[in-house]
Amino acid sequence: MTRRAGVVVLVGPMGVGKTTIGRKLAKQLDKDFIDTDASIVAKHGEISKIFADMGEAHFRHLEEVALSEALRTPAVVATGGGVVLSEKNRKRLKRSTVVYLATDGRHIKSRLKHGTRPLLAAGNDWSDIYELRKPLYRQIATITVDTSSKPLKSIVAEIITALES
Ligand code: S3P
Repeated sequence: MTRRAGVVVLVGPMGVGKTTIGRKLAKQLDKDFIDTDASIVAKHGEISKIFADMGEAHFRHLEEVALSEALRTPAVVATGGGVVLSEKNRKRLKRSTVVYLATDGRHIKSRLKHGTRPLLAAGNDWSDIYELRKPLYRQIATITVDTSSKPLKSIVAEIITALES
């Protein structure tokens, strides 16, 4: 079985393009696409509201459930940037094909400026969050792709080549 046959999970920091890249990758691999954030929103409502009303820990619990459900399908799965914080998730991801979308961060901050990500709205710095999580992304990555300053098409092509090698 080649790596492209099973579930392919995309991890990486907020704003790196997991959803956009994942959608395109799924199309090219002829797979279903699942976005764990979107699954949570569909079942429980807006993420910022979940953080505000129930707290981050509750969101992380919902994220664990959404990931474990998504991993049952041989789909392309885009995750939230904080999925790696949970040891349970990291253990599960270790058994899957994980593509870590890395970035030098140059274009990301401006892209996220007007967004509604609760961790950034609370005043946390994107780079600080990314630096803390980098070792966790590296720990579970099967494939690492540097997405910095690359067009979407090249990133997707690079992932597909790596999945086939
Ligand atoms: C989060 C990232 C978000 C979302 C939530 C928490 C994080 O997803 O899951 O706001 O902790 O990095 P994206 O990575 O798609 O922005």
